Amino acid sequence: ASKSVKLNTGADMPTVGLGTWKSAPGAVEHAVEFALRNGYTHIDSKAAFVSTPPQAFSLAWIGFSCRCVQERERGRRRHCCVRCSSRLHLFLTTKLDNPDQKEAPEALESSLKNLGTDYLDLCTPQVNDLLRKPDTYMSRAHALARTNDKRTRLHLQTKRTTGLTPGNRWRHCTRVTRISSRRLVSPTSPLSSWSASLAVAEVVPAVNQIEMHPSCPSEDVLEFCRKKGIVVTAYSPLGSDNSPLLTNEIVTKLAEKYNVTPANILISLQANKPGVTVLPKSVTNSRILSNAVIIDLTDEEIKELHKIDETHHFRACHPSWTGWGGLGFPDCK
Ligand code: A2P
Repeated sequence: ASKSVKLNTGADMPTVGLGTWKSAPGAVEHAVEFALRNGYTHIDSKAAFVSTPPQAFSLAWIGFSCRCVQERERGRRRHCCVRCSSRLHLFLTTKLDNPDQKEAPEALESSLKNLGTDYLDLCTPQVNDLLRKPDTYMSRAHALARTNDKRTRLHLQTKRTTGLTPGNRWRHCTRVTRISSRRLVSPTSPLSSWSASLAVAEVVPAVNQIEMHPSCPSEDVLEFCRKKGIVVTAYSPLGSDNSPLLTNEIVTKLAEKYNVTPANILISLQANKPGVTVLPKSVTNSRILSNAVIIDLTDEEIKELHKIDETHHFRACHPSWTGWGGLGFPDCK
């Protein structure tokens, strides 16, 4: 598996990143610091994952700053200095938070402040907010993205589309990964409506972040994204908390064969796919370390892992899934 994936913007996105969702504030700060000190260069965040403080970690708090780098240059290697020597080597993503219906520039400013950084590598608006106020939100967000284009490398969808960022649309769209190839061309399917949006979009999104694991392979979405030059980021590659995938026989057999953990097999499955990046979430040091180990699986083994989907569906791929606060989409029924 390659160490990074090229985005349609030219940026390189590290293949494995640390997921931080559902982490408690203290825990995630520690996890991010630990990950950065141990070679991670990609951290995914979201303002709304926890209530206070919004991002739950700040690069400034953990000493990830220019000051830190300067101190290292002077030969005073402080414990806070992380292995990636500057912000430039870190790929930091977030979602624009908008709980109070703030405008995008305000939301972005607050994310930057909370994260203790002056730019983001990737940023997506939250779909539930966009649904309430799509036009203003997107036009401001897009204007901002344009203004700071080179510096911020923000990749947002334009107001000329439906006003929704497809990644979020899919992320929240409960049954999209159950769409068959036949439904891909149906005028009412999310992929079809997004395809229409892309046809008039000024900016093709760089990344589509969706749930992906053997019980939710999302091959059709992945194929669609590949054709459009959009990288897919797999979140919950382990199947989230208390995942049955970690004890699945196919997974554990492969783990034994390669002498790695079942989590390594599940993470490697995504990392082995061209055009895919993967975000295992953990707040546990030993897991953060071991989750970064990617092994090369054979095509046969990948096929075998995908067989799990034939019998075992849960979370976003379960027909009765009502996650994401029960957010519903007209074309996800
Ligand atoms: P924890 O954060 O306490 O380490 P996903 O990335 O699919 O959403 O899964 C996240 C869940 O999987 C969390 O409950 C996390 O627990 C757990 N987890 C993360 N890494 C591993 C691992 N290597 N082995 C077992 N469970 C793990």
